[in-house]
Formats: sequence, structure tokens, C-alpha cells
Amino acid sequence: MKLFIDTANIEEIKEINEWGVICGVTTNPSLIAKEGRDFKEVVKEIADIVDGPISAEVISLDKEGMLREARELVKIHPNIVIKIPMTKEGLKAVKVLAEEGIKTNVTLIFSANQALLAARSGATYVSPFVGRLDDISNEGIYIIEDIVQVFNIHNINTEIIAASIRHPIHVLDAAKAGAHISTIPYKVFGQMVDHPLTDIGIDKFLKDWEGLQIK
Ligand code: E4P
Repeated sequence: MKLFIDTANIEEIKEINEWGVICGVTTNPSLIAKEGRDFKEVVKEIADIVDGPISAEVISLDKEGMLREARELVKIHPNIVIKIPMTKEGLKAVKVLAEEGIKTNVTLIFSANQALLAARSGATYVSPFVGRLDDISNEGIYIIEDIVQVFNIHNINTEIIAASIRHPIHVLDAAKAGAHISTIPYKVFGQMVDHPLTDIGIDKFLKDWEGLQIK
């Protein structure tokens, strides 16, 4: 499973990119709004840091508006992927963009049927939201398992991005379920690194080292 970072914060992206573990970035309007900066400027900066797919989401709700925004956004950088909401108008836009060779990431997926429709309309990626399903007491990881199964049976090559990841167990479960990608918030990357036994181990090694007596 590949790892993307789910943020629009440049410092967070730089830090995790230095670890060498990410190969893409996803943003959404809420994440961009948090930064309080020009959308296109932020996306351009991100694309200059990470050499991989960078998802930038449209705001329009109608097909024509989505297409207009998408065609502008792809001018920013060749790695831009257009994030489109899972709606009827969204599917129409995905179809046209696929015909134009523009990559799309269909977002706000909450069922395997939605993922199937998005894939059939030509989506490059689908983003099922695990955490938001958990929030309403629906076991979010099951949707990843369902989509993986359906895509495998029918040889669908749209990639599955496990999104709305809230903690390290989501990441592990998504990997075991067969998601192609997990898009992970900055904080969760930190939680994945940390382990108390690692810290205790380092302390012990250093203490023993300090007590080294050459015989
Ligand atoms: C996906 O691409 C979205 O940006 C994101 O994962 C949403 O996560 P949230 O439910 O924590 O807002």
C-alpha cells in the first residue's frame, strides 16, 4: 500500500516528504481553508515538493463548472489530479475528464456501489471515507474490503485511496484490506512512528553506552 499525506500545510508536507514515505498528497476545501492562502498557490507549492499525484478539489456542483475548474487546475502542474464529489454531475464530469486524459479522484465515497459507478465513469482513484463512517457507527473499514473485492473480481484498475483516516489502526486495517493507497493526516504519521518500547530501548542503549568500560 502506498502512502499519501492528507493536508494542505506546506511544513507538514515537507517534514513527511523528508522521511521518504509518501508519494502523493490529497487536499480538500476544508484543508485549504485552514491554511488561509490562495488555493492555486498552495497547490503549486505542494506539487513542487512532492513528485506524485496531488489531488485538488473542485467547488462547483454542476458538470460545466467542474470541467471549467478542472481545466484550470491541471494547468498548475502535470501531477494535478482533479478531486470530484460523488454526485450525478460529478460522474458526468469524470467521464469527460477521462476522455481528455485528465486524472480524477472521486471523493466522498461511502458505499461500494458509489465506488463502482465512479470507476466505470473513468475515475483514476476513488476515496472511500473510513473515519466518517465510523463516526456514524458504521464500521468504516468494511467499505474498503467491499470495494477491494468488487474491483478484484471485475478487474477494475481504478485505485482505492483509504481516506478519512483518524488513527494508525485505520492505516493497518486499510493495508490488510488491500487498499492501494492510504491518505494519512500528519498527526497519524507521528503516531505510526512512536512506540514506548522504542523510546525505552534507545534510553537503555544510551545508558549502557555511557557505562562502557574498556577492558
Ligand atoms: C480525503 O481525501 C479527504 O481529504 C479526507 O481524508 C477527509 O478526512 P476527514 O473525514 O478527517 O475530514
